[in-house]
Amino acid sequence: MKAIDYHLQTKHYPNKFAKSLGYLDWDNQPSPYKKYFTKSIPLPLTKPLNYTYEQLYTKNPPLPLDIYSISKLFEYSLSLSAIKEYHFSRWAVRVNPSSGNLHPEESYIILKNKVCHFNPKNFALEIIGESKEELITNGAIVILTSIPLREAWKYGERALRYTLLDTGHAIGALRFASNLLGWKMRLIDDIKEETLKKLIGLDKQNFYENEEEIFEAAFYIQNPKINLKAFEKIEFNLSYFPLAKEKVRWDIIYQEFPTSSYKPTYINSKTIFLPSPFSADEIIRYRRSALNFKKSYIKKEDFLDILDKTLPRKMPPFDVGIAGKIDFLVFVNRVDGIASGLYFFKRDENKLTLIEKGDFSKVAKLINCNQDLGENSAFTLSMVVDKKEIKSDYHYKMAMFEAGMIGQILYLEAEAKNLRGCGIGCFFDDLITIEMLQNPNLLALYSFSIGEPIVDERIIPIKPNALKVE
Ligand SMILES: Cc1cc2nc3c(=O)[nH]c(=O)nc-3n(C[C@H](O)[C@H](O)[C@H](O)COP(=O)(O)O)c2cc1C
Repeated sequence: MKAIDYHLQTKHYPNKFAKSLGYLDWDNQPSPYKKYFTKSIPLPLTKPLNYTYEQLYTKNPPLPLDIYSISKLFEYSLSLSAIKEYHFSRWAVRVNPSSGNLHPEESYIILKNKVCHFNPKNFALEIIGESKEELITNGAIVILTSIPLREAWKYGERALRYTLLDTGHAIGALRFASNLLGWKMRLIDDIKEETLKKLIGLDKQNFYENEEEIFEAAFYIQNPKINLKAFEKIEFNLSYFPLAKEKVRWDIIYQEFPTSSYKPTYINSKTIFLPSPFSADEIIRYRRSALNFKKSYIKKEDFLDILDKTLPRKMPPFDVGIAGKIDFLVFVNRVDGIASGLYFFKRDENKLTLIEKGDFSKVAKLINCNQDLGENSAFTLSMVVDKKEIKSDYHYKMAMFEAGMIGQILYLEAEAKNLRGCGIGCFFDDLITIEMLQNPNLLALYSFSIGEPIVDERIIPIKPNALKVE
């Protein structure tokens, strides 16, 4: 099946949602933590990097690639960062967001002579493969995978969309973290996916039924040289604790995205940075999703600066080699000095055009599955892409990654401006593309709201290893 057909088949309509179980089978929720039965290396806790907000984007001095900096890479991208408590329930949330907090993604790092899996619950690296020779010199490789079952448990057929968006967020989070450490990070597109899977033993894993883990993307960190021959001799330790008991399978979400000739398209334009009261460390570690907003006005310069940071410049996170032609339908609800109304933001031209003045906040709620976030936000946007940009299934995957990466920028930008954001994966596709934009050639990929949040009392920040179990 073509990726675009998948997208079309998993639209939500006001009177019909994409197929799913329709209820949550709490007894069989898949675990968000994969744990291998193998030796693990606890990651040391390290001091915060004393960097400003703008250093998220600008060049920083390179730190040596060692256990301390690798610990920082994971702490600032994929680690646990807080506990939420509600009545008698407690759950952990992470530096990176995830639809429904289900966290389908897994991450691996290959460094020197070791292949490791990052275990966020224990804040540790589990050694799944070791070689007598160096596997990698001059850098590292990071590989992201996902376990679609975790998302499908709640979202059924639409789960693949969320999985790809979550991976986009993870890529964005890793890129900001690696940039603070002064490292380059580039999408690997010169090695076949089949080979990349072998580097972490993905081709050899004996998954429990319906627990397949699928390859998402791989990245060079710095300028690594890879000894591909040495990987063939590794005996991987791949047994792991099962994730769930009974599992419903949604075949449609298991898609292949063969690598094809994708070229990122960047724009050349200067940027400036408004000062933020928060450091890069605070912005990253205290990022949260807003549950709802106060209906207050935000400053025009904050709104414009947030849009500016989403432009596809060759700077983090897009400089990993993912940048395309996603545009925004913007619902300006409450921005001082900007007329409320419906706008179109063409990212590659940095152009915001008024479509119609007026109060569209109730429409912003309606199109986003009737979620209050849309109505009460200062602004809400919907990311769209023209079908003609999706030249292959691989382009679809890249567009979804890019949408997630834009979402990650929006989350961090909101925090930097003492506001808060929330990703919105639940929206009525055709209301955005056909009703509002009157363009059936568009695909709606992802929505996002920003505003002044209603304070969430339930958040207790934690250290990344606070839930560690022996
Ligand atoms: C791709 C994606 C889609 C999301 N969709 C929604 C949504 O439709 N409604 C909502 O209230 N939150 C949505 N969220 C927010 C998640 O529920 C939130 O990230 C998760 O509960 C973890 O909380 P945290 O972001 O504070 O870590 C979405 C997040 C992501 C990354």
